[in-house]
Amino acid sequence: MAIVIGDYNRKGGVGKTSSIINIAAQFAMNGKRVLLIDGDSQTNLTQYFYEGDEDIFENGLLRKGVDTLYEVLEQDLNIFNTIYSMEFTARRKWGNRFRKVSCNLDIVLGSRDMDYYGTEDAGILKEKLKVVDDLYDYIFIDFPPAHNVVTMMFLVACDYVIVPLHLAKNSSAHGYRDVIERCREARDEYGNKKLQVLGLFYNNVQIYKTDQKMMYEYSMDPDTKKSMRLFDTTIRHDYSSIQISEADRQPVCISCGNSDIAKDYKKLVKEMENRIKEERVE
Ligand SMILES: Nc1ncnc2c1ncn2[C@@H]1O[C@H](COP(=O)(O)OP(=O)(O)OP(=O)(O)O)[C@@H](O)[C@H]1O
Ligand SMILES: [Mg+2]
Repeated sequence: MAIVIGDYNRKGGVGKTSSIINIAAQFAMNGKRVLLIDGDSQTNLTQYFYEGDEDIFENGLLRKGVDTLYEVLEQDLNIFNTIYSMEFTARRKWGNRFRKVSCNLDIVLGSRDMDYYGTEDAGILKEKLKVVDDLYDYIFIDFPPAHNVVTMMFLVACDYVIVPLHLAKNSSAHGYRDVIERCREARDEYGNKKLQVLGLFYNNVQIYKTDQKMMYEYSMDPDTKKSMRLFDTTIRHDYSSIQISEADRQPVCISCGNSDIAKDYKKLVKEMENRIKEERVE
């Protein structure tokens, strides 16, 4: 049965999309079967992989007839028939040899039309995912920076949420309090009893900046860290690797596997796997 994980923080620009792409890719590198769903009407995740693809985009907009999450929900399509598959490969030096590394990612594209989507059935996506439940180990949903009926529908479909925070964006921590409240709502009012916050992590960290260092030290105090479910791993600011990965349309574990940021995501994924294992044993 697939484990469904969303990235949730109402605050914009904290690294939800870049993190979910790189986390999903690292899970895929570890041999897991992974589906990514672009749930944001900004369609950043879809653009990341496909903007240059003329079968999918035309003049910066999705071509007519390309099925997305919107059509799955609004036209009652089978989600399985809307999945696009990608394979990424790279050559890595291993001792004095090279070896091939690869990861496969499947994706359900996002649509600007999600801005106009409304539903009274918060369980509709959860229902739609049942047909692909056995095909994947992990399904990741990229949330928009919002709280509305769509994000509630995503929360109802999720087993866990992860919360990227930006040390320089104070209000992303306030966004976290909203996340807690909305998860409670999804559990108590919409019946998704198993939904949990898997953890929070700081993204885009520049610890040499005084304000970030102070906030980081405060939140890494053991009690605060435990109560906020912070992961040990932080994702460092790494402008050049992010640029390379965006230009190559590849996750960092493929495009710059030895970079700081690729190492950080690898570590974070290990922590996520351990937490999931612990949760499932309890
Ligand atoms: N670790 C990092 N180092 C450098 N740049 C980063 C890092 N993480 C994210 N960025 C950059 O920060 C910007 C915002 O990231 P991203 O789009 O992932 O945020 P988001 O939370 O998904 O935004 P939105 O709320 O609008 O969906 C992007 O330009 C991204 O390339
Ligand atoms: Mg985003």
